[in-house]
Amino acid sequence: MTILVTGATGTVGRHVVDTLLQAGQRVRALTRNPAAAGLPEGVEVVAGDLADPATLNAAFDGVTGVHLINFSGDDYTPLQSGKEIVELAVQSGVRRVTVLGGRADGPLEQALAASDLEWTLLNPVEFMSNTLKWWAETIRAEGVIREPFGGRLSAMIHEADIAAVAATVLVEGGHGGKTYTLTGPEAMTTTEKVRILGAAVGKEIGFVELSEEQARAKWRGEGMGDELVEFLIDALGNTPELGYTVVSTVREITGRAPRTFAQWAAENADAFR
Ligand SMILES: NC(=O)c1ccc[n+]([C@@H]2O[C@H](COP(=O)([O-])OP(=O)(O)OC[C@H]3O[C@@H](n4cnc5c(N)ncnc54)[C@H](OP(=O)(O)O)[C@@H]3O)[C@@H](O)[C@H]2O)c1
Repeated sequence: MTILVTGATGTVGRHVVDTLLQAGQRVRALTRNPAAAGLPEGVEVVAGDLADPATLNAAFDGVTGVHLINFSGDDYTPLQSGKEIVELAVQSGVRRVTVLGGRADGPLEQALAASDLEWTLLNPVEFMSNTLKWWAETIRAEGVIREPFGGRLSAMIHEADIAAVAATVLVEGGHGGKTYTLTGPEAMTTTEKVRILGAAVGKEIGFVELSEEQARAKWRGEGMGDELVEFLIDALGNTPELGYTVVSTVREITGRAPRTFAQWAAENADAFR
């Protein structure tokens, strides 16, 4: 049984690959650029572009399980070729599918819902790894985070726990037709997150709370467009209840407690030094 992992070079996908390998599965990884994939030994790396289903025959050949992303391109545009991908999966003999979701359902989710495949949608809340993307450079350079909404709560999830759920669902089955919200083990404020990260990195990290207007001015000054600025103000200022309400899905599916932010921070501390 071969499992195809799409998004395999991404934040979550790399963990899906590792977790499946550790579970003794045969893993095939899809990438648009095999030369730059940097995937571990033992993975079969196959070239293909999800936006162009004609390039995917080799990737799907002989596969029984697939982990799918639902976007295409580096700007996360919703995948328009969902119907063709689901048709290819059915023709190839795929039985189980997991989808890394997190926003409104698009053509991929709709095509899966209309199929006989055993599909499972995984909707994680905020990734702990966003910390790396948003904060690492600033902390290395200045040791101070300047953001609005220091009291904002988030039930952030470790990307390896999203992967552990995907791998368990694909290998063990029994989750067909389910949509799962996935969170970490605790909801914490941004200021608590800064403190925990500082303890892991071994230096005090300052937090300067900006007003909304100061945040807009800062982000615009960094070259962000108005749309992204307003998206961030809304996402950080109005985190929906789902985003800070801890659920037990990771433990129920994998049998293990979800990883804490302190653990994530210890694993990634070097990137902030
Ligand atoms: N960050 C968060 O807090 C958060 C929270 C909830 C949900 N999400 C969701 O998580 C997803 C992002 O996951 P991630 O962070 O793991 O991704 P990522 O690190 O940004 O990696 C993107 C991956 O997508 C692949 N890819 C992009 N376009 C492709 C295409 N046309 N054909 C084949 N592969 C393609 C890339 O592969 P190659 O470059 O190797 O081809 C790469 O492996 C999004 O759907 C987002 O909505 C994020």
